[in-house]
Amino acid sequence: MKALVLAGGAGTRLRPITHTSAKQLVPVANKPVLFYGLEAIRDAGITDVGIIVGDTAREVEAAIGDGTELGIKATYIPQDAPKGLAHAVLIAKDFLGDEPFVMYLGDNFLLGGITKLVEEFAQSDAAAQILLTKVSNPQSFGIAVVDDKGDVVKLVEKPKDPPSDLALVGVYMFRTPIHEAVRSIKPSARGELEITDAIQWLVDNKHSVKPHLVTGYWKDTGKLEDMLECNRAVLETMEAKNEGTVDSESKLIGRVIVEKGAVITRSIIRGPAIIGKNTKVTDTYVGPFTSIYHECELSETEIEHSIVLENTIISSVARIEDSLIGKEVEVRGSNEQPKANRFMLGDHSRVIVNQGN
Ligand code: DAU
Repeated sequence: MKALVLAGGAGTRLRPITHTSAKQLVPVANKPVLFYGLEAIRDAGITDVGIIVGDTAREVEAAIGDGTELGIKATYIPQDAPKGLAHAVLIAKDFLGDEPFVMYLGDNFLLGGITKLVEEFAQSDAAAQILLTKVSNPQSFGIAVVDDKGDVVKLVEKPKDPPSDLALVGVYMFRTPIHEAVRSIKPSARGELEITDAIQWLVDNKHSVKPHLVTGYWKDTGKLEDMLECNRAVLETMEAKNEGTVDSESKLIGRVIVEKGAVITRSIIRGPAIIGKNTKVTDTYVGPFTSIYHECELSETEIEHSIVLENTIISSVARIEDSLIGKEVEVRGSNEQPKANRFMLGDHSRVIVNQGN
């Protein structure tokens, strides 16, 4: 069995982070979200992994390399534009050959891995196995209708008027009929070759499509709120560990991970939280559900329920919450006259300044 991992696409909902980075590389508990998927694939015994890459190909390739460190063999498949999930299958035909495969969307996060699902599929003779989960906002996902016998009978992509509340999770398993399906369908109204249409083609052509209901934690991390929620869920599962330097005036409370080379001085870190390699935290409060990545400097500030990417400096600013702060960003407080906020923000940035009293 092979795997096809989708790490292309535009990532418009995570701008401005995605102007310069791949959304699949935003770290969750200090590990790129994409790596959780690749590890789940490897743990299921699949090592031959095709990775669809788009505009951010260089960055994705730099992070994964040939895959050895993750225990996989990575083959990169360039996609000229995000033309849809079924388009990704179409251009991966040479890599996939006639082997069954798992397709994994690189921004999806599934707690508990995919090993059992892969085993279940391997033992079946279904043309496809899809993962479904109940959601409260079915308009935002691909939606499936399952009949009394437990067979998938209908699929629609982001319907205005959803026929069910069963959303497609971004992990799919396919056998060879999918290749004819992706060749047979036409682009949707939004101009993409939809995988939902390809699976509908399988259903219409009497191929068996089996659903598997996911009851564990799953998140599509395409939006800020979802990214923060996923970060929260992963931090909850981690054990405390201190590989850095913490002075006697600092306190680590609860599950706090301090990575190698990190230096904590006169600060309080209340877990679950993670402080990345070589990051310096001085005279600062880091609250629960916060991930500070490598090589950052935090001083005289308070931050909680947030993700901070590498090489960022935050100093002398009042409490920060619910935030995703990119790489090499500077956020500094100042007492200079005139008392004004000064910004240099990338396109599509979002800033909420507390007006105080
Ligand atoms: O997360 C589950 C949902 O994922 C499903 O319920 C939907 O049926 C499915 O269409 C998909 O919806 P999204 O709107 O979340 O898809 P998105 O455009 O975010 O793409 C998912 C991943 O695939 C993302 O990592 C980018 C990558 N991608 C996407 C497209 C369209 C590619 O690599 N190439 C592409 O052409």
